[in-house]
Amino acid sequence: MQAPTIFRVYSLLTTLIFIISHHYQPNPFQTAFLISTSYSLGLFTSITIYRLYFHRLRAFPGPKLAAITKFWHVWQCRHGKNHLVIEELRQKYGNIIRTGPEELTIIDPSVPLTIDGPKSNCTKAVWYDFLLPEIALNTTRNIAEHDHRRKVWDLGFSSQAMVQYEERVRHHAEILAERIEGLAKEGKPVNVSNWFYFFTFDVMGEFAFGQGFEMLQTEKWHWAVRLLRRAMSLLGPFSAVPWLAQMAFYVVPWMWIVRDWLGMMEWCKERMGERIERHGRGTERRDVAHWLIEYSLKRGSLERDREWLNGDAVTVVIAGSDTIAPTLVFAFYELARDRGLQDRLREELEKVDIYDKGKLAKVGLLTGVIKETLRLWPAVPTGGYRQTPDGGLEIAGAWVPGGVTVVSPRWSLGRLEEAYERADEWIPERWTTRPEMVRDGRGFAPFSQGRFNCVGKALAMSEMRFVIALLVKRFEVGFWGHERGERLVGELRDQFTASPGRLELKFRVRG
Ligand code: HEM
Repeated sequence: MQAPTIFRVYSLLTTLIFIISHHYQPNPFQTAFLISTSYSLGLFTSITIYRLYFHRLRAFPGPKLAAITKFWHVWQCRHGKNHLVIEELRQKYGNIIRTGPEELTIIDPSVPLTIDGPKSNCTKAVWYDFLLPEIALNTTRNIAEHDHRRKVWDLGFSSQAMVQYEERVRHHAEILAERIEGLAKEGKPVNVSNWFYFFTFDVMGEFAFGQGFEMLQTEKWHWAVRLLRRAMSLLGPFSAVPWLAQMAFYVVPWMWIVRDWLGMMEWCKERMGERIERHGRGTERRDVAHWLIEYSLKRGSLERDREWLNGDAVTVVIAGSDTIAPTLVFAFYELARDRGLQDRLREELEKVDIYDKGKLAKVGLLTGVIKETLRLWPAVPTGGYRQTPDGGLEIAGAWVPGGVTVVSPRWSLGRLEEAYERADEWIPERWTTRPEMVRDGRGFAPFSQGRFNCVGKALAMSEMRFVIALLVKRFEVGFWGHERGERLVGELRDQFTASPGRLELKFRVRG
């Protein structure tokens, strides 16, 4: 958070050196340059020597450049492939890797419970300051503040609140199915990498501020969602250096990508303003915003809470869409690859009324399909940075000092052969009839766990169950043309949430 100030102070000092040397030296440019270069050289050399030979984490293996600077990681992730970068490092250095001067990546099934479980004292790491000054439930690093806000959110996800959401989800899912049917009848491919996003953003827009993006209707990306997704792409390479985002926000707010982000935030803020105006007129549906606004009104703190309301609205949109959409895309990719499993799933679904949420939840194979997709294609592939408590902590058999950032990427955890038999294969039955194929399930936490766990888990599961059930019952799904998902996987980007490449599928309406 101090980065913009530090930048300004150094710029000012350099200017001062220049002005002073202008009075006393024949060549002020050269003098200012020499002084600032020798200063920087001294500073960075001492930092480098310290980080390599004296730092608390010096004994942990990893690339030397990563130990010196996080810019190493920025460079490695320039194409948004952190999930693959980490896999490569694991092959080379083992399961505990120093991926930054003050950061360890630990790939062991025990880690999620250690850093997020009920006994953990870990906090959210500096990464979550990325979006400051915006504040929201998922980005606040203050535990007391988080726990307080979480209680408000929990009201919005009670079983009473969920009934109304599920009805809206079904409504949008049916529109999605109609659109797909239209394309199928015209003999056209269905680009699921667009359609599942249209669906989830429409649903979440409605839940966040009572107004969807109408993308299922217009069959086009809404400009605000475009901005949001472009801005999110920053999280791929720049997650490693959240301080740089602060510099961008304060020093170059006119830069196009920063403008995108600020433009999108402004749009959400205006929608939230309108939503607040509509509140209490008795006409609006009980969306997530309803519960958040109601809480502020009861406390008489609506104006004070405006920042929270704006940030939380963006959170609903991003956390609810950018996670469910890629999971659906990958689930249908796998179903298209495995027609036998698709048939078996359909057979199971024929036996139940898919509009009965309770009965649908009991279709083991359907839950298996979702869990297996989340294992192999996690919606949050590598993110979830935590900071160890002051006194340090033993993680996966290693002592990690306090104040260190620790991360345990789901992408790699899901591919550990010691945890899953035939780990690289998509086998939903490992969660139903073949439990022996899960050798160590401790690392499976696609929705995280403990105090920072996903508040939308129940909604997400019921939404994904319904959409998959509806589409599998109504259509036979296969690949379109010769492509077998090469672009989907090849262009997959890890930008905190997974952003899949294009996938075109063939939907055939069943008789
Ligand atoms: C496939 C679907 C989903 C997956 C895999 C998923 C996964 C996750 C994960 C891993 C976290 C922890 C992130 C972290 O440590 O920084 C999280 C947090 C969160 N998720 Fe989800 N999520 C999904 C759907 C949803 C939905 C539908 C919503 C709600 C609209 C939602 C809202 C949130 C919120 C608000 C948090 C922050 C919770 C807190 O800090 O207390 N998520 N989610």
